[in-house]
Formats: sequence, structure tokens, C-alpha cells
Amino acid sequence: MSTTGKQLFTTLESNGTLTVAIEDVTFPAPTGNQVLVKMEAAPINPSDLAILVGAADLENAEYSPGKYVATMPEPFNSGSKARHGLKLPAGNEGAGTVVAVGDGDKAKALMGQRVACVPGNAYSQYSIADAGMCLPLGDHTAEDGASAFVNPMTALGFAENAKADGQSALLHTVGASNLGQMLTRICQEDGLGLVNLVRKNDQVELLKKLGSTHVVNTSDDDFMTQLKAAIDETDAFYGFDPIGGGKTVDSVFKAMEQVAVTKMDEYSRYGSNQQKRMFIYGRLDTGATILSPSFGFGWTLSGWLLFPFLQSVGGETVGRMRKRVLENLTTTFSSSYKKRVDLEEMLTKEAVMDYRAMKTGEKYLVMPWK
Ligand SMILES: NC(=O)c1ccc[n+]([C@@H]2O[C@H](COP(=O)([O-])OP(=O)(O)OC[C@H]3O[C@@H](n4cnc5c(N)ncnc54)[C@H](OP(=O)(O)O)[C@@H]3O)[C@@H](O)[C@H]2O)c1
Repeated sequence: MSTTGKQLFTTLESNGTLTVAIEDVTFPAPTGNQVLVKMEAAPINPSDLAILVGAADLENAEYSPGKYVATMPEPFNSGSKARHGLKLPAGNEGAGTVVAVGDGDKAKALMGQRVACVPGNAYSQYSIADAGMCLPLGDHTAEDGASAFVNPMTALGFAENAKADGQSALLHTVGASNLGQMLTRICQEDGLGLVNLVRKNDQVELLKKLGSTHVVNTSDDDFMTQLKAAIDETDAFYGFDPIGGGKTVDSVFKAMEQVAVTKMDEYSRYGSNQQKRMFIYGRLDTGATILSPSFGFGWTLSGWLLFPFLQSVGGETVGRMRKRVLENLTTTFSSSYKKRVDLEEMLTKEAVMDYRAMKTGEKYLVMPWK
């Protein structure tokens, strides 16, 4: 039996017109190991914003109930050519209750349960999800479980990668984000050193309250001195950066190299042999990544994405990680939200302008049945 409900879609036309609107949709009955989830809560994460709003001019958009139409400026419109004309769903993850199931055993076992899921259309009253990707939430609320996948598994993935690469410490360039706070708690639990970079004094305080010992404020005049001292004390030559644009990675590599050089017995014109590794895993700054190589030759910069990581580590590791997330959902892996909105409220100018700023502690939670 099919089910009807409201769902959000985002469409970018080749002339740069971006339309984000709620539509009435008929959801088919789930088949095989699919489940139909009545979605109760879904976070608006930075990765969702990339497809929802991108670089669109939201100040001058036309807003009407359940819809806005904005202009995507160049070069971002041409850069999004592959999606021109496509009507796309949005919302990577969320939580809700399974109200119908396919005839597969995994699906049948979830009937009636509250689950966290990754359907890709979480800004919707209903979503079809793969039972194998659903995490049964037991007595937890949908709000507890809404962000149970993307940030927890990514932060845990960083710790997994660091350990697999023989590191005893790591560095993170946006320490106060939801993900950064999770990483701070994970590193404490796992005995990993962590250097947190932030850009405001209240973020230093926030992380210190969480027990973070090495917090460096990039806005301080003596930022590089603080950064070198933190790297020296922790041996963090391995880090993760969600900013992407600008000179953050450059500064980190420079500080790592300068620390490494102080530990050399002999001068070398080629710099240190210390391996320095950074992963860019987000684009909070969409500008160019600027590197001014003055950090020897022992450095690697690469990208990091959750789903390829999960595929690379295999089912057993993923299962262990998911179990840890579920057991610590409201502690280590808790997320905080500034506001709860329904689908229509999500598309008002006031809300859009607010959540697109991606400020610390200001994430929105979409509750389609609010
Ligand atoms: N690669 C992957 O698979 C993957 C998976 C999960 C998450 N991510 C990425 O992880 C990042 C954090 O996600 P989240 O949900 O934890 O974020 P969040 O809680 O919404 O927080 C966003 C943070 O980013 C900071 N920020 C925004 N723009 C910035 C800029 N230009 N320079 C420096 N800091 C900036 C904000 O600080 P202020 O308050 O100072 O603005 C805030 O602390 C996002 O970039 C997301 O895309 C990637």
C-alpha cells in the first residue's frame, strides 16, 4: 500500500534559478529489505546545506509558504552543471518510526521500531530506507538518534584511521563543531592526544569545559607559537580539516615542520623527515586551498569522506563503531540544536539565513510532524 506525505526538493536550473520547495509525494510500499520510516527528526548538517542552498543569494530570494526561489551566482552555477534540471531530495540522515516493511527478514525485524537511518531524503514526512543501514534506537527519542550516523561515524573514523596509522595524537582544525566536540570526547576515552583549533574565545572555553587540554585560538596574535607548543607536547603530526579553503592546512604543516626541525640532530636543506599528514574533509570555506610549501617534503594532503572510509574498513569494524555510537548516544555522541522547525518553517527567510551561517551550537533540527 502506498503512503502520501510532504517532502522537500531542491532544483537548480541551468540559468542559475534555485527552487527549494515542499511537495506532496506518494511513497511506494517498501520491498525486500526496505523499510518505510515516518521521519520524526533530521539535522541540517553542513553537507546538507551544500545541496540545499550552496552559494545561492538567500538575502534576495523570493520566499512564499513552503518554498523559496533564489539565484545561484557564478562560478557556483556553472560548477554545479551536473545537477542542472534535476529535482533532488535532501537530508542525509534522521530518525523516525518504521511503519511498513518489505518481506525481507532484516526489514521485518524492524517493524514498529524507532530507528536512525540514512535515507538521503530525510526532510520528508516519510522515507524509504535500507534496513541494513538502520540503527534501532531502543528507548531513545528521535531527537537523540537524529544525528546518530554522519558525525559520530566520521569522528570515530578519524580515531580509527589515526590508530591504524600508528598515531598517538591527532589535530582537528574546527574543534568546537558538533563533530569536534564528539572527537574531543572520543580521544579522551581512547587515550589519544588531540590538538583542537578554534577561532573564538568562547570556543576555547567550551572545549576546556569538555576537558580538552590543547586548544589553540587561530585569532590570537601568538597563534603559531601556541600551535607549535601544542604539537610539540602531543606529537600530533596527523590531522583533519573541514575548512578546506584558505591557509589553515598551510599553517598546520608549517607548525608541524618547525617543531620537527627543532628535533633534528643535523641541518638538512630538504627539511625534516617527519611525516606530516592532513585530510580535508569539508568545505566550510569554498575558496582555494592555499599552500606555500615551506614544510619540507614529508607531507601528504588528501581528502576524507565517510562512505568510502566505511567501505574500506569493512562490516565488522562498522558494526563495532555503530554499537559504540548506540551505547553512548546521549553522552560521547550527543549533538545539540538551536531550533526545531517543521518543513514549512525550515524554508522561511529567518530560518534559512540563520542555519546557513553554520555557527557553533546553532544547528537546526527538522521535525516534519511538529
Ligand atoms: N567528509 C565527511 O564525510 C564528513 C562527514 C561529516 C561531517 N563533515 C563535515 O564536518 C564539518 C563539521 O560538521 P558539524 O555538523 O559538526 O558542524 P556544526 O556543528 O554545524 O558546526 C560548524 C562549525 O564550523 C565552524 N565554521 C563555519 N565556517 C567556518 C570557516 N569558514 N572557518 C572556520 N570555521 C568555520 C563554525 O564555527 P563559528 O561559530 O566560529 O562560525 C562551527 O564551529 C562540516 O564541514 C561537515 O561538512 C564531513
